[in-house]
Amino acid sequence: MEEYYWDTQLEYLKRTRDLNYNDDYLEFLVSRVWKISKPVHIIDFGCGYGYLALKLLPLLPKGSKYTGIDKGQQLINKAIEYFKNLPYESEFFVADSNEIELEDKYDIAVCHAFLLHMSEPKSMLLKMVNSVVNHGMIICFEPHWISGMSSYELEGYEQSQIVPLGILQKLFEESSRKAGLDGNIGVKLPQYLYELGVKNIECRVSDKVNILHPDMNQQDKQKLFSSLKEEGIGGEPVSEEQFIERLLKRGISFKEAQDQYEAELLFSQVFNMDSSLIYAPSMKITYGEIRGQ
Ligand SMILES: C[S@@+](CC[C@H](N)C(=O)[O-])C[C@H]1O[C@@H](n2cnc3c(N)ncnc32)[C@H](O)[C@@H]1O
Repeated sequence: MEEYYWDTQLEYLKRTRDLNYNDDYLEFLVSRVWKISKPVHIIDFGCGYGYLALKLLPLLPKGSKYTGIDKGQQLINKAIEYFKNLPYESEFFVADSNEIELEDKYDIAVCHAFLLHMSEPKSMLLKMVNSVVNHGMIICFEPHWISGMSSYELEGYEQSQIVPLGILQKLFEESSRKAGLDGNIGVKLPQYLYELGVKNIECRVSDKVNILHPDMNQQDKQKLFSSLKEEGIGGEPVSEEQFIERLLKRGISFKEAQDQYEAELLFSQVFNMDSSLIYAPSMKITYGEIRGQ
């Protein structure tokens, strides 16, 4: 049987999560913005190997509990292994969130980089909302790809030479229209949550700006460079012919496809561990209060 895709992506997940938030920012959100001062029971949709649980549980009041669900058996095994010796109450289950029926018993429903992979994100949001008690919260950390794409600076190159935004904007919109999968979902969530009757909706931006510089110490430089590469930054494109053929199928003109190929090729050729590169993923963190009728 073919292995479940996300079960093969543990290394990618482990190496890239830290590009998004500084720990002090998460602490600030928990204590100053969400003001979580009493123990809470959190449910994490598409929890992966437990990234968000590992970050949030140490910040939550003692007595808090965490439930993580994910379709990936290997990812859930990893989460269980990580939490085995940690002093937190946690449980992790393999489940397809499209199929699972949940009671409205959680204080907070969260997700991180999950809704963008849903072909019907609004139904999943409704499921998340319905899993929460009256006056509980929903918190979604989701990407806004075009914003992330505009937040690069590679020394020696104009942004438009390495990341032409116009065509990317079209491609992201096309994939959302065709398959429902929306890499810009982060910025749409305030509107979606309003439609579901969520109250007091606010949205923040991830704080971290990653700075790769030749003068960094070797170990930090190596770590950040490998995270950036794992994230796909400066990745080598497939052969020119295949690349252009794929984009043509997605409604992009030959000239645009060729320019995109050349930009990606240039980026992959000039980006290396001694580059000076600045990159901010610009995730959106949308949250609000659930109120029963
Ligand atoms: C980009 S990963 C994010 C994982 C984790 N939240 C993190 O940020 O490290 C997306 C996750 O959603 C999970 N996922 C996708 N569809 C799912 C479904 N229908 N039910 C449960 N989990 C699902 C995948 O298995 C994967 O772990």
